[in-house]
Amino acid sequence: MKLLEPSRIGTMEVKNRVVMAAMGAHGLHEPDGDWGDRFLAYYGARAAGGVGLITTETTFVSQALEPFTKGLFSIASDKHLASMRRLADLLHSHDSRLSIQLTAGFGRVIPPPVVPEGVRPVSASVNNNYFLPDDPELVARAITTEEAEALARSFGYAAMRCREAGADCVELHGHEGYLFDQFMTALWNRRTDRYGGSRENRLNFAREAVAAIRREAGADFPIIYRYGLTHYLEGGRDVEEGLWIAQELEKMGVSALHVDAGCYETSWWPHAPQYQPPGCMVEMAEKVKGVSSLPVITVGRLHYPEVAEKAVAEGKADFIAIGRGLLAEPEWVNKVQRGKRDEIVFCVSCHEGCLWQMIAGQPTSCALNPSCGHEIEWPLVPLKKKRSLLVVGAGPAGIEAARAGTARGFDVTLWEASDRFGGNLRPASRPDFKRDIQEYLHYLERLVRRLPVQIQLGKSATAGEVLSFGADYVILATGAKMESAPFAAGENNKILTAVQVLNGTEPQGKRVLVMGGGVIGCETALYLAGQGRQVTLTTRRDADQLSAELFDHNNRFMLLNLIKAAAIDVLPQTMPARVENDGVVVSQGSVEKKIGVDSLVFAGPLIAENSLSKSLGKGSDNIFSIGDCVEPDRIMGAVWGAFNLVREIENMQREP
Ligand SMILES: Cc1cc2nc3c(=O)[nH]c(=O)nc-3n(C[C@H](O)[C@H](O)[C@H](O)COP(=O)(O)OP(=O)(O)OC[C@H]3O[C@@H](n4cnc5c(N)ncnc54)[C@H](O)[C@@H]3O)c2cc1C
Ligand SMILES: Cc1cc2nc3c(=O)[nH]c(=O)nc-3n(C[C@H](O)[C@H](O)[C@H](O)COP(=O)(O)O)c2cc1C
Ligand code: SF4
Repeated sequence: MKLLEPSRIGTMEVKNRVVMAAMGAHGLHEPDGDWGDRFLAYYGARAAGGVGLITTETTFVSQALEPFTKGLFSIASDKHLASMRRLADLLHSHDSRLSIQLTAGFGRVIPPPVVPEGVRPVSASVNNNYFLPDDPELVARAITTEEAEALARSFGYAAMRCREAGADCVELHGHEGYLFDQFMTALWNRRTDRYGGSRENRLNFAREAVAAIRREAGADFPIIYRYGLTHYLEGGRDVEEGLWIAQELEKMGVSALHVDAGCYETSWWPHAPQYQPPGCMVEMAEKVKGVSSLPVITVGRLHYPEVAEKAVAEGKADFIAIGRGLLAEPEWVNKVQRGKRDEIVFCVSCHEGCLWQMIAGQPTSCALNPSCGHEIEWPLVPLKKKRSLLVVGAGPAGIEAARAGTARGFDVTLWEASDRFGGNLRPASRPDFKRDIQEYLHYLERLVRRLPVQIQLGKSATAGEVLSFGADYVILATGAKMESAPFAAGENNKILTAVQVLNGTEPQGKRVLVMGGGVIGCETALYLAGQGRQVTLTTRRDADQLSAELFDHNNRFMLLNLIKAAAIDVLPQTMPARVENDGVVVSQGSVEKKIGVDSLVFAGPLIAENSLSKSLGKGSDNIFSIGDCVEPDRIMGAVWGAFNLVREIENMQREP
């Protein structure tokens, strides 16, 4: 595979074409910001997994203008630099290379909670804060010429320190509308000094930073520049300017271009949701390759090996960067190398275990792989004595309990009521735009077959059977079911639930009314619109609350855009009043109106399926419930609930 062939970035040789994309890992820092054992174990696992070049999270070159960075790694600290040396040595021991991502800072996208009182944010020009544009305290002031000069110079010192500590290259964090990008972009840079005015001048900040690195870290020290080809934003960069920038960066002397897109306002590009196609930015990399002779790195949902290989084999990019895919599967490269695609855990692009854990100050982790970021704290310790474990339900929670259970040495039996594995992942994975969930479902099906587990499909467990089985431990993972519509159908029609539709029952006719503005209602509406149906979506919510429970705004905003693009007629603050044979009467406040439809789909709430747990009653200290049967949630709740219970179960173990 071309993907696994060695290549070079400037003077740096890399053993394969796989780069770990930079991802914030602040929750893994020591209290003083140092990179301790947890931080090293996290990166070390990805290096051991075969990644050629590992990029760290952003490191600030200076804290002079944004003193919000307490508790962060400091390039100026000798103690911290010793840790960088340890990291470099560790990565080198796996023949991986270390790239330190250097940032100029946040500028107008600084999150308000990290701005200390009395400190004024900065930007290339006076710019409102992205998060709280109406807060006068947060309006960024324009950096002075002298401050800009000093900040650009800091890149030289920082890169020199990185090189001293054994880093193989640096990456400049020039994309996604951060401070570097604010200097480069007319929308945010209205300066009249040498850092603004013309598009050439807007690149002077980057020019001086690159020159400083060349001066202080050496002409042969590789510099990767990460930037967005276009912002997909009115007034932001267009592709033409993006291609011109690529040529200018080459003239500046950078060694490789890492091509991204978007900014905070269009975050479904730099933080691609599950609705983006795999390899969503490969075409942009290809365009850049057309105007530059530098090695080009492409990024964005490249965790499917065939997509990554195609990008490199077709010459659209020289390297592929994977971010989240390596959180879900640290052994990604090794498994690809050994032809074990079937054993790869593919990221589902939810951002719930990575981005949102990071924002919460927790270790950057993964919904599907709780061990990520907890490599040291959360081991699955082998049992001291053989124990039996009965797991009831083979959705993601039950399968994860079985996986973690066998890893610890439990004698595991798994009962599943239906004839198939996966529980609600089956309806969840039905639409084409939920390919990630399909891949995860298939992975779980293959995994459970490989595990040393006694499996019984078609076994709907009763309380009596569970008790008479006599396992040392019982885990109930019986999931959730969708509520039926709380009103009657007409004589000539019936009301399907969204889960029935997604499980394959076809609604009749072309005109479908989907009732329910939660994420399942929105996705079902989109799925039906994709079949060429004319879809109306009613919700009792306000218009701006559509799919509001979708935790990750990147996924949510893209879903809302897709709904708009699919011309789904959304009726907010609308309740179905009664069903008639040729349609539905809905009420919007005191007004009633009739909608002519051929079919009705109810996307109601999921209700915990806890009847087994109720009939087993209280009083057993060896019976536990996990996942949606406790409270309907998401895959992350199911997997983490299962993992953490099984991980800790020995601590609760009764003496024999
Ligand atoms: C349409 C839809 C779309 C979704 N999309 C997403 C998404 O994009 N991302 C996300 O993170 N989450 C999504 N979810 C939520 C996610 O699917 C659930 O959170 C997850 O499946 C819960 O896992 P679980 O194992 O707890 O339960 P389930 O998946 O419900 O599995 C429970 C299993 O237990 C079995 N069972 C029940 N009773 C018994 C019994 N007595 N004996 C034996 N077996 C029994 C059932 O047959 C079932 O197989 C979606 C859910 C739905 C319905
Ligand atoms: C938790 C998290 C933190 C991130 N932090 C950074 C960062 O510090 N610097 C950066 O350039 N990109 C950052 N990104 C973006 C990733 O580098 C990457 O571009 C993005 O996740 C898309 O690639 P993927 O689909 O392979 O994950 C972050 C992404 C995630 C999920
Ligand atoms: S938490 Fe979700 S998006 Fe993040 S790495 Fe895991 S599966 Fe991917």
